[in-house]
Amino acid sequence: MFDVPEFRAMRGLRGFAATAALLAAAVAQAQAQAQTPAQPALPNVVILATGGTIAGAGASAANSATYSAAKVPVDQLITAVPEMAKLARVRGEQVFQVASESLTNDNLMTLAKRVSALTKLPDVDGIVITHGTDTLEETAYFLTLVVHTDKPIVVVGSMRPSTALSADGPLNLYDAVSVAASKDARGKGVMVTMNDEIQSGRDVSKTTNVVTSAFKSQWGPLGMVVEGRNYWFRDPAKRHTMQSEFDIDRIDALPPVEIALGYEGVSPVAIDALAGSGIKALIHAGTGNGSVADRIVPHLQKVRASGIVVIRSSRVPQGFVLRNAEQPDDKYDWVVAHDLSPQKARILAMVALTKTSDTKDLQRIFWEY
Ligand code: DGL
Repeated sequence: MFDVPEFRAMRGLRGFAATAALLAAAVAQAQAQAQTPAQPALPNVVILATGGTIAGAGASAANSATYSAAKVPVDQLITAVPEMAKLARVRGEQVFQVASESLTNDNLMTLAKRVSALTKLPDVDGIVITHGTDTLEETAYFLTLVVHTDKPIVVVGSMRPSTALSADGPLNLYDAVSVAASKDARGKGVMVTMNDEIQSGRDVSKTTNVVTSAFKSQWGPLGMVVEGRNYWFRDPAKRHTMQSEFDIDRIDALPPVEIALGYEGVSPVAIDALAGSGIKALIHAGTGNGSVADRIVPHLQKVRASGIVVIRSSRVPQGFVLRNAEQPDDKYDWVVAHDLSPQKARILAMVALTKTSDTKDLQRIFWEY
């Protein structure tokens, strides 16, 4: 095009000008980078998905309680909360896709072994487990008993499906990743983030079956998480994770332990049937302070005489069972479950029985965990 001296000269000048402009831009960028310190690398958080309502889907946004649990895959849970990318480098694994009432001991073992393996990886800083809320408290307690790590492990669920108006899952998940990515959450035992609160996996229970504030502990939350920041108010009082004498890497199977409920007019049929089913311990979910109906006492004594451990818990959600109060536990060689609900007493009994069946040692374990 126009190959004349003036144009050639201009084209040369223009080339020079363009080069100078590029150089100036490169210098400006280098100066800008020099002024803003490099952002520290984000922590790595792994989300292990197991199903539940947090992965649930309803027919319409108005369905906050009628829906199918365990439908949405983990990658969709992650893409639904893009803000998490500012907290951590997040990746997901789909461990199960089930409603949590259907989880089994084998599922618990598989999940805990995966969590344990991940905590040993240098490029994993925290772990989140998405889970149905029905048995979330049992899984959280099991993990705090058997996973040896001080890296944050957070179990999270939701009371409304992801498709519902004011779904609580996305914020609960954001909070869980925030806590799992936090250095100040290390060494707190397994935690549960629901409804802005950071609960101890040991202490928390689902206390209501419909509201988003369902998860409570009678000893209060460990703290709160608000807009990606943790506010701590107490530490766990019982042994957990690194201080635990139990280690999932040295447990191959969980012994069968079942629960019998106490109530007005109760018959010994359930207890006698359970006693003959091969169980290693029976949790008696008694009334009041773990009371046992007088007609039931001989049946529990027979259970104990057969070598099965008898553990007195209470169906009452608050308080704790006093040893030798409602029953002469020393005389009957029974164990008391302290403040643990029947379902949590069962978790601890299964774990403890992988190590001992001595009732004095078991009672120590129920005081300490
Ligand atoms: N089926 C219940 C479960 O998976 C749904 C409750 C929930 O996840 O919130 O635990």
